[in-house]
Amino acid sequence: MLKRNILLQDSLICIAMLLSHLGHIYLVLKTLMKVRAQDAISPSDPAIRIIASGGVTTSLVLPGSLNLMGGEGFVIKMRPVETVSVDDMGINANIDTRKERAWRWLKMACGENPKNLYSSRKQIPTTRLGEAWLFRKYFAKAQALKQKQDDWCNAAAKLSNREQLSSYFPEDLELESLVALLRGDVKLNIHCHEAYDTETMIRISSEFNFTIAAIHHASSAYMITDIIKKRAKNNITIAMFPELWGHKMEAFHGSTKAPKIFVDAQIPVAFKSDHDVSNAQNLAYEAAKAYHYGLDEHHSLAAITSVPAKALGLDHRIGQISLGFDADVVVWDSHPLSLGATPLEVYIDGIPQFNTSLSVLSNETSKQSLSNSTPKSDFTRKPVKSRTTSSAILKNIDKIYVDKNHTISSEEGNISIIVKDGIIECIGINCMIPSNISSYEIIDLEGGYVLPGIIAVSPALGLAEIELESSTSDGQVVPIRNPYDTEDIIYAIDGLKLGGKHLESAYKAGVLTAVTAPMSYKAVFAGISMAFKTGARSILDYEPIISETVALHAQIGTQYKDDRIPTVSGQISLIRKSLIKNLAHQNIFGRAARGDIPLIVYVDSKDEIASLIKLKILVKNYGGNLKLVISGGAEAHMIAIELAKNEIPVIVNPSRPAPKLWTAQHVLTGPPITDKTGIDILHENNVKIGIGVSLFSFGFNSYLLGFGSERNLVWDAGWVSRNSKGLISQKDAVGFITWNLEEILGLNMSNGLLKGNIANFVAYNGNPFDISKKVKIVAGGGRRDVLIDPEQD
Ligand SMILES: *[C@@H]1O[C@H](CO)[C@@H](O)[C@H](O)[C@H]1NC(C)=O
Ligand SMILES: *[C@@H]1O[C@H](CO)[C@@H](O)[C@H](O)[C@H]1NC(C)=O
Ligand SMILES: *[C@@H]1O[C@H](CO)[C@@H](O)[C@H](O)[C@H]1NC(C)=O
Ligand SMILES: *[C@@H]1O[C@H](CO)[C@@H](O)[C@H](O)[C@H]1NC(C)=O
Ligand SMILES: *[C@@H]1O[C@H](CO)[C@@H](O)[C@H](O)[C@H]1NC(C)=O
Ligand SMILES: *[C@@H]1O[C@H](CO)[C@@H](O)[C@H](O)[C@H]1NC(C)=O
Ligand SMILES: *[C@@H]1O[C@H](CO)[C@@H](O)[C@H](O)[C@H]1NC(C)=O
Ligand SMILES: *[C@@H]1O[C@H](CO)[C@@H](O)[C@H](O)[C@H]1NC(C)=O
Repeated sequence: MLKRNILLQDSLICIAMLLSHLGHIYLVLKTLMKVRAQDAISPSDPAIRIIASGGVTTSLVLPGSLNLMGGEGFVIKMRPVETVSVDDMGINANIDTRKERAWRWLKMACGENPKNLYSSRKQIPTTRLGEAWLFRKYFAKAQALKQKQDDWCNAAAKLSNREQLSSYFPEDLELESLVALLRGDVKLNIHCHEAYDTETMIRISSEFNFTIAAIHHASSAYMITDIIKKRAKNNITIAMFPELWGHKMEAFHGSTKAPKIFVDAQIPVAFKSDHDVSNAQNLAYEAAKAYHYGLDEHHSLAAITSVPAKALGLDHRIGQISLGFDADVVVWDSHPLSLGATPLEVYIDGIPQFNTSLSVLSNETSKQSLSNSTPKSDFTRKPVKSRTTSSAILKNIDKIYVDKNHTISSEEGNISIIVKDGIIECIGINCMIPSNISSYEIIDLEGGYVLPGIIAVSPALGLAEIELESSTSDGQVVPIRNPYDTEDIIYAIDGLKLGGKHLESAYKAGVLTAVTAPMSYKAVFAGISMAFKTGARSILDYEPIISETVALHAQIGTQYKDDRIPTVSGQISLIRKSLIKNLAHQNIFGRAARGDIPLIVYVDSKDEIASLIKLKILVKNYGGNLKLVISGGAEAHMIAIELAKNEIPVIVNPSRPAPKLWTAQHVLTGPPITDKTGIDILHENNVKIGIGVSLFSFGFNSYLLGFGSERNLVWDAGWVSRNSKGLISQKDAVGFITWNLEEILGLNMSNGLLKGNIANFVAYNGNPFDISKKVKIVAGGGRRDVLIDPEQD
């Protein structure tokens, strides 16, 4: 029945933390495991269906990581039950415990999260030393209780018929889960980033004779595979993000090579989400990214199926398609490791969750075809050495996206690009082979594509190396003292710091321009953004600054309420007054009101966006010309027609949004739940679209963090095009991360793909929307040399 292109794939098992639903448990619970996730999971949470639509059929829901001993986790099947009972969603519902073991799951955490929370309250554990002490203290208590219980049982066993013991069985609710762990009835999951945190937990586990089922995140654990393999008595599973990194110090040394390092060391690797920080709907995409970075097809798929099933103690029921196993099966529209792969239907316990019709299930053309979209199973990568050259000739190019109006294709003839000292000497079909050809490095693109340098509208590039580590950051803007006093508006350019790992990572991914506004999680006006070249090493370098004054940035919505402006209406009123009052002045508000620079407002709600459209019209009636840009825009599709009519572009951010907030509840999460996405609708209605660096909202303050995802912009664009059923062409999608942003932001960049210009492009060894293809060449970004075969850390 199923034809080519439609693969039957094991369901995904997601080791997820549904933080949104449980919240971080914030009472003084620093050590005792009194709490259970089961008591706080809402069976009618809409996230369950959205996550299932990404092919996730089972989730381990864990309490958060702010406490050393967070509490008990709960494993659910991701389908609604008629009783609306969380107990009935549990994987252990209806099992016969005489025949089958009913595992329990525990969550613990070490490192920065508990340390930072409790040190801010001047309570133990203020340090890692304190964390280890508290672990030992409570494990010792549990050990003593277990001993007392065993003694009681031994004594009871020796009693004759009529005798009875003078005491009751020793019990302590606070230690009950820990004793169960010591008895081997519990699968322990520990959140640890640093390698030495993992070593500490393995040491403690040996001292108290318990096993660790999984270490979560484990950002640096790839450095200590020997310790994990040899000092622990069981196989510890690493449950990780394959490539999200760098938002906090203990995640700064994350490596894209880690999954393969673990697999090579025979350490099981699972990929996790951190819902809702990272949307669990995209779990298969995590595996696809690991595949891109060199993990083989089998282990990439196992990391979201059989490996987590085993770590949960459920590998006799789930994680593979086998006789007698639960009928949890996902039908994909393309290979699940290909970019933008989407389930057509998800069966959980044999029940189809999305009522997809048989004609769709058997339609082999349901996804627009893309050459080489299916990863080759024997895909092996030759090791390459990253290097630079001053002069290069690029040959065997299939396509060059020059700009909005020009594409050069191999159909026109042999196309090539010649670069020397950062300048394009020739581009196109008529390049003469230079007589001094031996002084150029000849690079075979193997039929690859060339794109203009990608533009990242980013939360922190150039202003913070580690977003949550204040010593590495320019800092957070606080609400301005006098709302109409423009002297308080700051310029990001004054805080620019070049170099560093995040900028290097962006540069190596062909993200050659960064546009960054001052960071602020509270102020309505964040300040003035800058545009600069990501590869530049100093502001005295090779023309690194593109613009010191790109746009005025504001942000509105419920997240930005504070004591000074406690209402969203007050936020809008502040923007209105600031613009109208300054219309005739030579200050930054006046310049924005007259349209000299854009005003970019981060906002999700359709109603708030509508108020801003009204504001744009009002400013016009006063004689101004506001160049309003919407950023975020989760609900922008609902007023696409008005946005187009008033020429208001949208920088969507993230490009695959989830309804995290009340004010973003009308997000379209895409197939198989919604036919179209918000971007599809904006595009259909001729709204100019840009894609910003994916933002992850994090913690109580809704910090918007990048998690190092600037390097994924080309895939964000590819995803949008692959899922639009032909509505959004590949070229349109390339525009969303290049020329459209240039136009929206009014950047005056010299085009990098014309003869005589400063080079500013990225070349791939194939179609960049094929996730198995790699960046081959980076030219520009503030460097004269061309980078060949860049490798991500
Ligand atoms: C450690 O625990 C295992 C069971 O989990 C048990 O068989 C073994 O005897 C224990 N070792 C010690 C030294 O208590
Ligand atoms: C641990 O993994 C190795 C191979 O990676 C396997 O041979 C061994 O059986 C595993 N041990 C357990 C207890 O599962
Ligand atoms: C699927 O179809 C059945 C029968 O037509 C209907 O009862 C059910 O509500 C549908 N389920 C969903 C999730 O749409
Ligand atoms: C199959 O997919 C193609 C391309 O998306 C579409 O045009 C066609 O209508 C689909 N057929 C069915 C039966 O859904
Ligand atoms: C593309 O074409 C349009 C309309 O023909 C023109 O206005 C615009 O300047 C062109 N853009 C570039 C980058 O050539
Ligand atoms: C294009 O390149 C191929 C192989 O390099 C060569 O055989 C062919 O003659 C070239 N065509 C032109 C028009 O230069
Ligand atoms: C090759 O010769 C041309 C013409 O003389 C010159 O412009 C160019 O810089 C030379 N290239 C290299 C890499 O030396
Ligand atoms: C854009 O740059 C060019 C060349 O550097 C310059 O002539 C032109 O005035 C600039 N335009 C704007 C709008 O800044």
